[in-house]
Amino acid sequence: MNDTFLKACRGEDVPYTPIWIMRQAGRYLSEYRAVRGKSDFLTMCKNPELAAEVTLQPIDILNVDAAILFSDILIPCEAMGQGLDFHEGKGPILGPAIRDTDTVSKLSVPDPEEKMGFVMDAIRLLRKELADRVPLIGFAGAPFTTATYMIEGGTSKNFLNTKMMIYQNPALYSSFMDKVTATITEYLKAQVSAGAQAVQIFDTWGGIFSPADFRDYALVYVKRIIKDLKDWMASEKIDNVPVIYFVGESAGLLEEIKTAGADVYGIDWRIDLDVAIKRIGDNAIVQGNMDPLSTFLPPEKIEERVKDVLKKGSSAKGHIFNLGHGVVPQTPRDNVIALVEMVHRLSKR
Ligand code: CP3
Repeated sequence: MNDTFLKACRGEDVPYTPIWIMRQAGRYLSEYRAVRGKSDFLTMCKNPELAAEVTLQPIDILNVDAAILFSDILIPCEAMGQGLDFHEGKGPILGPAIRDTDTVSKLSVPDPEEKMGFVMDAIRLLRKELADRVPLIGFAGAPFTTATYMIEGGTSKNFLNTKMMIYQNPALYSSFMDKVTATITEYLKAQVSAGAQAVQIFDTWGGIFSPADFRDYALVYVKRIIKDLKDWMASEKIDNVPVIYFVGESAGLLEEIKTAGADVYGIDWRIDLDVAIKRIGDNAIVQGNMDPLSTFLPPEKIEERVKDVLKKGSSAKGHIFNLGHGVVPQTPRDNVIALVEMVHRLSKR
């Protein structure tokens, strides 16, 4: 097996720096658009064969060192009892918005195999189809990031309703977050049981907080998940499955983030990777962090940036190359293929 990614997650020596890319299965690939042209996004997520097919596309096309399950962080919201739909051009719509005791009390903490079995089926199918070519990453949204969609009813600019609940009704927020956290914990355990070889927790919107609020309203729940997951793995005698914690716009929060208990920290591009590593500490294992839109540069300029990120990442105990956020639909596909080749070539030990 190409276990370079898992070795880097554990801080072990690797022959080159492994790379995978957030949103590597997506609309910038014509092969993805061909499948997507026949089914809507949620149907693809709920069909294990289709989800597996598009998960594998970037492995063949890009030669990345890990597969990430094709799904979405909002799947558990529907399993908890909220309506979920993806509208063309408008993004996700969730309803009713969670704003009061009544809507919170109607949410359940679902059995993941019962309500989201299609995800675990996709993982089991993928492990078979991958046949150990590269490891498979499972994922979930962090409780806070997931909660913003549930409270706002979709994407938001200033997260007004979320912050209103936090500041005006902290007891309601905390009881809601207990349910979201329990759901995500059980969901991640089910993914690991089904065969996920690493898991990433996406806290895309963590950066909207001051450090103190981030700690009290987002990080506590992530810590609870990671501790629960690690204790469970130990008691089930499951080999330590690396946990990656990615926070968007994290530069102001690294001193908080580094206490999460994760194995790997995903860093966005708004900070130099060597500075982030220094702030996380000597044993930092990091993932990142080229600006996703720098893939629009001509290849020779991309190469300069790859060299820079690799050099800055070399001060960490482990480095997994990634972009600082997901690759966007307009990205030139050939540049992404070239990026993977550059990382492999330029990082060869
Ligand atoms: O990284 C991967 O390739 C794995 C699959 C994956 C998707 N979404 C597929 C997707 C993962 C890990 C996610 C995570 C996700 N989903 C996050 C956290 C990471 C991030 O990107 O910030 C968030 C916030 C979501 C919620 C979400 N899903 C939004 C806001 C949207 C609409 C915006 C958009 O890009 O269209 C989605 C849809 C979505 N999720 C698509 C894909 C490939 C596009 C769907 C399509 O084909 O139309």
